[in-house]
Amino acid sequence: MAYVVTDACVRCKHQECVEVCPVDCFHEGENFLVINPDECIDCAVCVPECPVDAIIPAKKDKGGRWLDINKRYAKLWPVITVRGVAPADAAEFAEETDKFEKYFSEAPGKGS
Ligand code: SF4
Ligand code: F3S
Repeated sequence: MAYVVTDACVRCKHQECVEVCPVDCFHEGENFLVINPDECIDCAVCVPECPVDAIIPAKKDKGGRWLDINKRYAKLWPVITVRGVAPADAAEFAEETDKFEKYFSEAPGKGS
């Protein structure tokens, strides 16, 4: 089992999560992060770090949607281990739903 990032992260991208991961399994997209579920050791230390509660255990991911998305983009995007600056308008998107459909960008981030 692993933890996965859900669409609460889209356009919030606070990045506190990346600095606590002991196995560096976060990958950066332009406006979203994913976890490589094949490398995640299930330690859960990233979960309370996220201000918008975007990280969930894969066992709570009904139908495996987020697991598939995390797996797919972890292969395409660079690893991020150093926290960058969250988007200036992150707070405006904290409560919004269906952000993946509305805003998700497939473009990779810079990584670090
Ligand atoms: Fe990294 Fe642990 Fe979070 Fe998995 S659960 S992504 S290993 S911090
Ligand atoms: Fe995203 Fe939360 Fe990390 S908003 S970048 S999962 S701290």
